Amino acid sequence: MKINDIRKAYQDFFESKGHKIVPSAPMVVKNDPTLMFTNAGMNQFKDFFLGYNETKDKRIANTQKCLRVSGKHNDLEEVGVDTYHHTMFEMLGNWSFGDYFKKDSIDWAWELLTKVYKIDTDRIYVTVFKGDEQDGVPADTESENLWKQYMPADRILQASKKDNFWEMGDTGPCGPCSEIHVDMRDEADRKKIDGKTLVNNDHPQVIEIWNLVFMQFNRKANGELEKLPATHVDTGMGLERLAMVLQGKKSNYDTDMFQFLIQHLVELTGKKYGADEVTDIAMRVIVDHIRAISFSIADGQLPSNTGAGYVIRRILRRAVRYGYQALGLKEPFLCDLSVKLGQAMGDAFPELRTQGELIQKVIREEEASFFRTLETGIKRINDLITKAKAEGKNELAGADVFELYDTFGFPFDLTSLIARENKILVDERGFEVELAKQKDRSRAATQVESDDWVILMNDDQQEFIGYDFLHTELYIVKYRKVKQKNKEFYQLVFNITPFYAEGGGQVGDQGTLTSKDETIRSS
Ligand code: SER
Repeated sequence: MKINDIRKAYQDFFESKGHKIVPSAPMVVKNDPTLMFTNAGMNQFKDFFLGYNETKDKRIANTQKCLRVSGKHNDLEEVGVDTYHHTMFEMLGNWSFGDYFKKDSIDWAWELLTKVYKIDTDRIYVTVFKGDEQDGVPADTESENLWKQYMPADRILQASKKDNFWEMGDTGPCGPCSEIHVDMRDEADRKKIDGKTLVNNDHPQVIEIWNLVFMQFNRKANGELEKLPATHVDTGMGLERLAMVLQGKKSNYDTDMFQFLIQHLVELTGKKYGADEVTDIAMRVIVDHIRAISFSIADGQLPSNTGAGYVIRRILRRAVRYGYQALGLKEPFLCDLSVKLGQAMGDAFPELRTQGELIQKVIREEEASFFRTLETGIKRINDLITKAKAEGKNELAGADVFELYDTFGFPFDLTSLIARENKILVDERGFEVELAKQKDRSRAATQVESDDWVILMNDDQQEFIGYDFLHTELYIVKYRKVKQKNKEFYQLVFNITPFYAEGGGQVGDQGTLTSKDETIRSS
């Protein structure tokens, strides 16, 4: 099955089980201070789980663009080095909001995997939550018994909170989960080592493909769990990993999702894929990153020097750096890849087509500017090396190397490589010290801590009246305290509001809130 057929089969299956199929939410999050990017399919439904908002559709399914490069779920360092992590990936998901729970969720997962996708039943392992005393949550024997209908007990593994209690972030909806793993190794390898010993052990061919989360709690800011008003289901299956399994490949990058991009790089560089580790990692990094970059720009997030924009800029530069260092690319190359990506994925995600021109223009400019940075950096390093040698030193000072990295955006490992080629050392410890200082500075600047919402009245309809009225009397439905950059402020939710929210590249409305005792200006 091709990637587009796999995605469609998932949606058709859950539509036949009474689910409404909805579009992916944007990957860049604008209205949740606890998140920078969508990191799971459930993000857009957070308020339904918490009971702050209600949906008339109790069953929903979709494919969600996710990015895991910051916060609690961050896979960046693994990407490209291994063959099954990604910055951006598609998460196929089905949700129940106070409707079905463990039984249907497990029955349907089994039916879809074994009857529709036809995965060998004896390659499947599942994990269930073994309970956690500290949180006061018991072992999930119900899921264990449900799985026993389908597989021998020795394929059902108990797992701890680390792997089998899913939380969106430090606070928010959470619950025990049951993961489905598939063993894709050859018969000979499977005979030598029992697959169950490799589950959750970072084996590239024994991988988790689907996570069924049974949402039951809200993790509060003080770390305690409180029961949600109802129980819900939140499942997420990595489409790229599923494609690897269904296409019988050993790596996500060997599927039709990535191969056309890799082939483009092969033609461009004249290097083979699969012959040399350094080349392979570089090609994987690039074809992974081009998706994260293109989709973020399509969702309105341009590369910049702060916040989400800075994350995207760093991903783009990481891709350019791998191309430059490992593949010998000296001119912009990402832009052409984004064109190819738009052609391949534009049916499933039309924003890649409608925003195509913008995506290409932004990537071309960013890339060209970073190539100039590389050139300037190389010139500067050469000056530093000449100066150090003239002074009889055999080391580049940590502070100089850090300045290259921080002010000029020049990557540290490239500095090391050039220094080595010139038979001079780099004061790595001095660099690390400067880096740690800078990280502390930026952590203090970007940390966002939000308290739990304080609910003042039960009203889940927030009505926007700003097209007709600029003043109104209103009630505060709920509020919470948020701390950022050492400043405290409050977020208020009203029953009706004339304020248009920030979104679609526009800043939100500002105004005043007047009560009996005071007048406050919004910020
Ligand atoms: N939220 C869960 C996850 O991201 C299941 O969708 O794994």
